[in-house]
Amino acid sequence: MPQTTDKDACELLDADHLAVKHLFVEYARLAMATPSGSAAERKALATKICNELTVHAQIEEEIFYPALRGAVPDAADVVDEGLQEHQDAKDLIARIRGMGQADDAMDKLVSELARSIEHHVKEERDELFPKAKAAPRMDLAGLGAQLRDRQQELQAGLRA
Ligand SMILES: [Fe+2]
Ligand SMILES: [Fe+2]
Repeated sequence: MPQTTDKDACELLDADHLAVKHLFVEYARLAMATPSGSAAERKALATKICNELTVHAQIEEEIFYPALRGAVPDAADVVDEGLQEHQDAKDLIARIRGMGQADDAMDKLVSELARSIEHHVKEERDELFPKAKAAPRMDLAGLGAQLRDRQQELQAGLRA
């Protein structure tokens, strides 16, 4: 049976974007609702957000961005900008991971990360994905499978 439910590259990456957006909303809800009682839950959620974003950025950098750069010469600028935004996010993630427990300072950093990711995701949706979809040399289905395999591998490594 053909696996028609397999996501192509853009669908897979956008599903990740949506999933992490939900995690940010959940974090903000916890931070607002019960400032002191939910510290352990917020810490666990912050760790999950950091892990998911790290894996997501890594599969984009290893697979999707190079493919786009190779197939679409005029995508170089947006890819470079994307890499810079990944670096900014990684710096915030490192600071969040370095914090012992969830407190006001962590809440501020997580909300800063949420804003930064929201901006970055918008650029991927509005600029990168349309270029990828318009490029005849981009095998979005094949890239989707590669992204999924690498994502599963990295996620298994996190659980090990
Ligand atoms: Fe992304
Ligand atoms: Fe990205």
